[in-house]
Amino acid sequence: MITLITNIKELLQIRKTSISKVSGTEMAELPTIKNAFLLIKEDLIADFGSMENLPEIKADKIIDATGQIILPSWCDSHTHIVYAGNREQEFVDRINGFSYEEIANRGGGILNSAKKLNETSEEEIYEQSKIRLEEVMHLGTGAVEIKSGYGLTIEGELKMLRVIKKLAENYPITIKATFLGAHAFPLHYKENKAGYIDEIITKMLPEIAKDKLADFVDVFCETGYFSVEETEKIMEAGIKFGLKPKIHVNQFNSIGGIQAGIKFNALSVDHLEIMNPEDIEALKDSETMPVALPSCSYFLSIPYTPAREMIKAGLPLALATDFNPGSTPSGNMNFVVATACIKMKMTPEEAINAATINGAYAMGISETHGSITRGKKANLILTKAISSYYQIPYAFGSNLIDSVFVDGQII
Ligand code: NIG
Ligand code: FE
Repeated sequence: MITLITNIKELLQIRKTSISKVSGTEMAELPTIKNAFLLIKEDLIADFGSMENLPEIKADKIIDATGQIILPSWCDSHTHIVYAGNREQEFVDRINGFSYEEIANRGGGILNSAKKLNETSEEEIYEQSKIRLEEVMHLGTGAVEIKSGYGLTIEGELKMLRVIKKLAENYPITIKATFLGAHAFPLHYKENKAGYIDEIITKMLPEIAKDKLADFVDVFCETGYFSVEETEKIMEAGIKFGLKPKIHVNQFNSIGGIQAGIKFNALSVDHLEIMNPEDIEALKDSETMPVALPSCSYFLSIPYTPAREMIKAGLPLALATDFNPGSTPSGNMNFVVATACIKMKMTPEEAINAATINGAYAMGISETHGSITRGKKANLILTKAISSYYQIPYAFGSNLIDSVFVDGQII
């Protein structure tokens, strides 16, 4: 199947040669072609260029995109899409003055979701999760990472990872799986933390590796959750089982999680609401991608990742949703991009780079996703007719998407 899209008002994020990420010094630039064509063969981008150089092609389908913009699909490198039920009551409790921490301390939070997950059948969790996945696909997400972490038992964690695997098998978008057994300590291990870590390392990890259920290992490195030392132990064990670390750090406190992630060559360190100068310094000479989750800051009313300071220091930055029932019940990458511009003062160019190519890097798929490059996946967003791509963050509450392509097909 050959699809030719013509008269595209502007084609964004074009990269003639494949790049893996853009650094802070390069993020201000978003290469584009105005009045462009794009050629799709099967599931891949075959060619693109200016309409003046439109080659003679026999296409099966021709789309006239006059007035419309095309960009690569969003690459959402951090989500917890697989969960059971919701936490609406905690949302109202927070409105009434309780903090996220207070709610967690009285057995709510992650443990509340873990209880629900363990009480729900695998089939039912799949049914609930696929609705969320379909929703984000229609919002322009073309690749997504999904974490476990609401099981906190071997059965529950395996159940979640099998659901992620089934989603990956049944849906065309690229899905990467992350094992987050170290999301919280289950109640019965509250006084025996070493016991739970032992269970993660000696029971869960071998089973997960045996069935190839995960690509990455994650830990919630935070005061009251997993210490830096415990995080290092789990990352080390995950690496032995072939899982690269991608970790939750600096959400509420800066306790050395970033440095630990870098030490273990983490692919990404995520959240970063609380950053001190040493954290920024540590990231400078690393290959670890910092990932900001502005919808989480928005929903919990906590600080936003200091993007300007980080970019000024030359650091790359990726943007992701953190879609989960507690801190971010939204998987809308368009809102993430808008919020990054509005609240973190990222420019539209920086935010689009962060949500495409740098997001792809943060889940290890930038060879195939995240830019308009020949040979990359034809996972694309075709906008409605809009005045410029500034509209994407500017008209933050509007759905500007006309259609979404996954593997070269409109979904
Ligand atoms: O990334 N911070 C840790 N984990 C999730 C939230 C988990 C929850 O509240 O269910 C996050 O924000
Ligand atoms: Fe998260």
